[in-house]
Amino acid sequence: MNLNELKKKAAWAALDYICPGTVIGVGTGSTVFYFIQALSTVKNLISGAVSSSNSSTFLLKKNGIEVLDLNTFDSLEIYVDSADEINNAMQMIKGGGAALTREKIIAAMSKKFICIIDESKKVNILGTFPLPIEIIPMAISYISKEILKIGGQPKLRENIITDNGNIIIDVYNLYIHDPISIEKKINSLPGVVSVGLFASRVADIVLIGTQKGVKIINN
Ligand code: A5P
Repeated sequence: MNLNELKKKAAWAALDYICPGTVIGVGTGSTVFYFIQALSTVKNLISGAVSSSNSSTFLLKKNGIEVLDLNTFDSLEIYVDSADEINNAMQMIKGGGAALTREKIIAAMSKKFICIIDESKKVNILGTFPLPIEIIPMAISYISKEILKIGGQPKLRENIITDNGNIIIDVYNLYIHDPISIEKKINSLPGVVSVGLFASRVADIVLIGTQKGVKIINN
């Protein structure tokens, strides 16, 4: 099986966690693309979805799933999304698809974060995948210098404006041995909108598409 088939397997396995009548938080990316297809098969059982990006909103609507405003809810039962990397503590790097800020907001408001990945995303130390940071454009010089101080190599992601009208810096070669302190440190820099390090809010359940089937890890 290739990686796309493994993503699809993990994505369809997430259907087992959907309770009738609930609103589903939906992430962004190529794995979530398969999840939205799966979700469309039960669309009459759910009350709709909250979307983490314009691209997922487009796909949800195209599949006949109603998209609702997050601000009309106090919390969501589940959030289903993928990750660019995940470690053994279920901490993640996310934002390869530039949707990290809305993903973080929905994850924070959800009782359960179900992370759907293919087996290539599992790592021991986060940081081989460049860490995305969404920033306010005028802060690029300041934030880049601060990132160099903590040992990372910042690089502006070309030709990307986020759904929130901001830009993305990707941080290369930052091997993250203490994810919680790095998340706090980067979050505290003026001009940072959010960092794609999900270290405090980890996944609750990870569904891993492997050659032997879907492996389930519960936190
Ligand atoms: C979107 O901003 C990201 O957080 C994605 O969830 C993450 O990059 C995984 O994407 P893929 O499923 O495309 O690998």
